[in-house]
Amino acid sequence: MAVHEIVSPPTGAEPPRARTRSDAGVLSLDGTWRFAWSPTAHTGKDPSDPGDTWDEIPVPAHWQVCGYGAPAYTNVRYPFPIDPPRVPEANPTGEYRRIVRRPPGWDTGRVLLRFDGVDSWFEVWVNGSPAGRSSGSRLTVEFDVTGLLTGGDDVLAVRVHQWSFASYVEDQDQWWLSGIFRSVALLHRPEHGIHDVRIVADYDHRSGDGLLRVEAKSTRPVTVEVPERDVRGAAGETIHLTSVEPWSAEAPRLYRVLIAGEAETISADIGFRTVSVEDGRLLLNGAPLVFRGVNRHDIDARSGRAVTWETMERDVVLMKRHNVNAVRTSHYPPDPYFLELCDRYGLYVVEECDIETHGFSLVDWRGNPSDDPAWGEVYLDRMRRMVERDKNATSVVMWSLGNEAGWGRNLAANSRWTKERDPSRPIHYEQDTECEEAGVYSRMYPTFDELEAIGRHEEPESADPARDAHRRALPMVMCEYGHAMGNGPGGLADYEAIVDAHPRLAGGFVWEWIDHGLEGAGPDGRRTYLYGGDFGEPVHDGSFVIDGLVFPDRTPSPALAEFAAVIAPVRMRVDGGDLVVENRWSFTTTGDVVFSWSLESDGEAVGSGPLDVPVVGPLSAARFTLPPAVRAAESSAPPGGDLWLTVTATTGSASPGVEAGHVLSRAQQRCRATAPRRASARTPDTASARRFDDSGHPEALGHFPVAHVGLDIWRAPTENDRYAGNGETSSLESRWREAGFDRLVERTTDVKVSGASARRAARYGSAGLDTGFDVDYLWTARGDGFRLEVTIERRGEWRLPLPRLGIVLALRAADPGSAVLEWLGLGPGESYPDSRSANWYGRHRMTVREAQVPYVVPQENGNRSEVSRLSLTVPEGCLRIESLHQFDAAVRPWSTERLERARHLAELDEDGLLWVHLAAGVTGLGSAACGPGVRRRAQYRAGRARLVLDFVSERS
Ligand code: GAL
Repeated sequence: MAVHEIVSPPTGAEPPRARTRSDAGVLSLDGTWRFAWSPTAHTGKDPSDPGDTWDEIPVPAHWQVCGYGAPAYTNVRYPFPIDPPRVPEANPTGEYRRIVRRPPGWDTGRVLLRFDGVDSWFEVWVNGSPAGRSSGSRLTVEFDVTGLLTGGDDVLAVRVHQWSFASYVEDQDQWWLSGIFRSVALLHRPEHGIHDVRIVADYDHRSGDGLLRVEAKSTRPVTVEVPERDVRGAAGETIHLTSVEPWSAEAPRLYRVLIAGEAETISADIGFRTVSVEDGRLLLNGAPLVFRGVNRHDIDARSGRAVTWETMERDVVLMKRHNVNAVRTSHYPPDPYFLELCDRYGLYVVEECDIETHGFSLVDWRGNPSDDPAWGEVYLDRMRRMVERDKNATSVVMWSLGNEAGWGRNLAANSRWTKERDPSRPIHYEQDTECEEAGVYSRMYPTFDELEAIGRHEEPESADPARDAHRRALPMVMCEYGHAMGNGPGGLADYEAIVDAHPRLAGGFVWEWIDHGLEGAGPDGRRTYLYGGDFGEPVHDGSFVIDGLVFPDRTPSPALAEFAAVIAPVRMRVDGGDLVVENRWSFTTTGDVVFSWSLESDGEAVGSGPLDVPVVGPLSAARFTLPPAVRAAESSAPPGGDLWLTVTATTGSASPGVEAGHVLSRAQQRCRATAPRRASARTPDTASARRFDDSGHPEALGHFPVAHVGLDIWRAPTENDRYAGNGETSSLESRWREAGFDRLVERTTDVKVSGASARRAARYGSAGLDTGFDVDYLWTARGDGFRLEVTIERRGEWRLPLPRLGIVLALRAADPGSAVLEWLGLGPGESYPDSRSANWYGRHRMTVREAQVPYVVPQENGNRSEVSRLSLTVPEGCLRIESLHQFDAAVRPWSTERLERARHLAELDEDGLLWVHLAAGVTGLGSAACGPGVRRRAQYRAGRARLVLDFVSERS
């Protein structure tokens, strides 16, 4: 058996200890190293060889993104035969070399060599002498190299294997990427230094006092000081601080604590806070702790899991700007800097251990390491390394034993050890379904019904009544929900409403924060974002790794905007002449929130002003009468037109990551609908008959020659359309294809062109089926354009929602993407029946190109709802489309067919046409890729539709 196949915790490693900021010496070894790559574990390299002539590689980095080997993506499946602890002979291996020199002044005390992340197994030598071996890819390990360093140039050698026994417990849903991908450093440990500290900073919400207790590992006495409070004590004592400002994600107040020994001073920024479970509720500082969170991986489109401090900070700031208050570090401890950011900016963290054995579920969990005593020490070592490193992180409010590793004695032992070591934080583990050990009940992707049942404490019974009662009394979290794959998820607002209604529900974490697309050359050679299969992997899970709220370049997707709106800490509703303000913060009043109103008629401002809203306390709601100025503006608004009142709540001052003026939420009320225009407003233009072609459609609409007019029911399937949701047996896509929606053929049944009007009747059906649609198009020419009246009738019976029901026009344009799209309706982002909270009614404007949403896997996108007016402007002129009834609209520079055919963003080419999709209704998104499908109320099921649209052309 090869050494990396021996199931063992690290050898030669130091006991794990806290990450601290200390004045003891640190020498970063990040930078350029020598590197030699081998396709097997037998590299033929001597550890004492300095590798002077080898290639160079940056550290930290994965070798697969530096031109050696290739990334591979699997979700659940192991990419190698399940034969633990054996791994394939084809085991890519990297030999790293670096010359190190012990800094002057480090000759007393000890020198440690620290690795923060090496994937998956490695062995270390100094000048050819072994220093240790380790695995635990996302865990810190330290080796004592004091006796190995000479003070001169020493050869540091690290041999890293891609596959090892450890790969069996690191089967997370992510790219397989190897190498030294987090920082490496030499640390001076001065004699009589402080080798480890444990800082407990509790907050008593009844008295407002903080309790600070520091335990220090040192051979000499250690003092503790909180300078800003002028408080001093000693390690081992409990220090009482009166009237402290507690820490929370809402107000991340940190106090600097100086921990000083004879030879070393540690400076820690610590928040006072207490996590508890009381009466079946999860609490922080005595108030409800509700996670409005995301699952986050360390990932970057160029560098994989090697992420810079700037990237981590960008994530945190983006989260804060989108009202996110929590992160589950799926599915391993993050780079330690990330936790510092969470402390500082205010994010609750569920920190998860680097353990996942999901692939065993495919063989009925036979041989699962989680229940095999031979793996006990390895499991415990992993848990200890996480807990010890991050025990002082204020932001960590819960420890998670891992993800999808089944259940077994090793996980139970990890839980017991952790509870003893750190009783201050509850244990989380989703697959402890009976909550034998876990302090919270956790589920992933529950249906809405299941979540409601749990909220009512009415989940299905477990066999053992005592356990059943125990679990039923625990708070519940959704460790994953709202699968953000492709266009979606739909239904976030429904989840939030259920969480709001039941105190037992402590919220959850959307799956997931970011798409893991890797930048590279696509199948046609163009640069694009790549996913599973793009690197020639024999087994892979395709685009399942593209399921984030932000795109690979961290641009927010519409789903993030939706989530931000759904979880807004302040919510408002205009109710008649009143404004109802709901404060959902647990600790913060609305004292710093600025409220304002504006009134728009057909999207034009006709009045605005500040709103003087009395302060609403945390977790309460209040109703206020809108000031007379609002009603006065309403009554003096010009007649006609849609009149909308918008109330906006913004932040009054800046807070970490969030600028003053950041929009927290909006509420709207339609005060008046457009008065119906008189049908005789425009007279038919009898001279225009020649403007119709033989098929009964106009030859041109304004400046746009018409290339096609037809029925439009198909959409390029979303990722959610492709999967059967919870409890369903087939996907929407497969049901739609069976019904022939993707392959309708047209047969004209009648065309009549007479004077100013043209009527065309057509029947649409699909090969082998007797169902379809009958469509009647009636065009009437008017002085400045046309009116189109379309009636669509379903033929035959089927019990299926339709992707959409409407028409599509293809208009010729020189540069379709640059046409300017302006509309009156919901915007500015895309919206669907179950994902529309981020948008507001108004006049919105952008180019057609900007209106497309760049999903990594091209699919249906860009729908705008409740549109009553839309215009397309090109240099030659403008075409307006108006209707008395609101419609759904999408305008694209490519056809649905092209959108569907492209598998990568770069493959989407504009085709010289403006595709204008106008629909009576569309079906929502759901989250069937993982979770429930589209709820019935978000499905479009009408059997008949009528659209009346005026096409008016204007010259520029
Ligand atoms: C969960 C898993 C995640 C991810 C998700 C689907 O089961 O915990 O890691 O795979 O499903 O995207």
